[in-house]
Amino acid sequence: MARRIGVLTSGGDAPGMNAVVRAVARAGLQKGMEVVGIRRGYAGLLAGDVVELTARSVSGIMQRGGTCLYTARCPEFRDMDGVKKGVEKCKELSLEGIVVVGGDGSFRGAGDLSSLGIPCIGVPGTIDNDIQCTEYTIGYDTAMNTAMEMIDKIRDTTQSHDRCSVVEVMGRKAGYIAVNVGIAVGAEAVITLEEPYNLNKIADDILRAKKNGKFHFIIVVAEGVGQTDVIARTIQEMTGIESRVTVLGHVQRGGSPTVRDRVLATEMGYHAVELLEQGIGNRIVGLKDGKVYDVDLQEGLAMKKEFIQRRYQILNDTAF
Ligand code: ADP
Ligand code: F6P
Repeated sequence: MARRIGVLTSGGDAPGMNAVVRAVARAGLQKGMEVVGIRRGYAGLLAGDVVELTARSVSGIMQRGGTCLYTARCPEFRDMDGVKKGVEKCKELSLEGIVVVGGDGSFRGAGDLSSLGIPCIGVPGTIDNDIQCTEYTIGYDTAMNTAMEMIDKIRDTTQSHDRCSVVEVMGRKAGYIAVNVGIAVGAEAVITLEEPYNLNKIADDILRAKKNGKFHFIIVVAEGVGQTDVIARTIQEMTGIESRVTVLGHVQRGGSPTVRDRVLATEMGYHAVELLEQGIGNRIVGLKDGKVYDVDLQEGLAMKKEFIQRRYQILNDTAF
């Protein structure tokens, strides 16, 4: 059983990371462990930048966006020399396990540390929902709700001006945010990397709808497509409808986490501590069939994630 564990947040921040930190600290302390927060991900581990967590010090963070432990990207950790330094630091700090909250890059670091004798558990924290072995990543729901609220506002001005708004949402290479938010805002089209798209068809649909008395349009584009400006210009040229681009950007990464994010973050953080309590490492905690579970880290990273094709089809079949 681990007597002293650490928790760190790594890669892009996500709303709900604080709820994981709180759950890990409270669960660990309740089980008689000492718990430290490692600041700024693997960079903080290498620097030995840690803070003892107490039940009180993690009070009042659940509802806050961002991560109270800060986050960083640490190129040094990508090669084994960096990881070996991390192992030495863990020994110096008497850390017998670490909960790593982040995306698949962060999990690779956790796998490397585990292979050198420091049990690590990955907890998925990213707004992109792009981790193969889990149906859900912490921050995804909050980011989608934020994007939905923003696009609802964009719809107002788009309607007033009879325009077409082309809105880029985050997701790295993944289109999960785009499709769900597209449905939620009643977008006329959603463009992602996962599905082929045809601007001629979108323009035709728009022109047909215009004949039927519809004068404003929203097109949601997943950032991975990388063509948002071109798409807007092309739609304007093809339809004659004035088009505007909005890139929602980092607003989607902030804000107070939703109920779903807080609850799953707490459950996943708790589950991670239970594994470390048993001396188990090299696992990723995830959601499968709606239940929190864990999977071997390398196996989890090698899984293939299904795209939400049916949802995408429903979106298209209900867009006009
Ligand atoms: P995410 O965890 O959100 O995917 P990154 O890919 O930026 O974000 O990874 C976060 C950090 O995880 C990196 O800065 C690095 O410290 C560590 N990391 C990423 N890839 C690896 C790897 N292949 N091996 C070890 N550590 C890695
Ligand atoms: O992974 C989260 C995410 O916000 C992606 O959606 C986006 O592509 C990327 O991070 C942006 O990263 P940065 O914080 O480096 O701008």
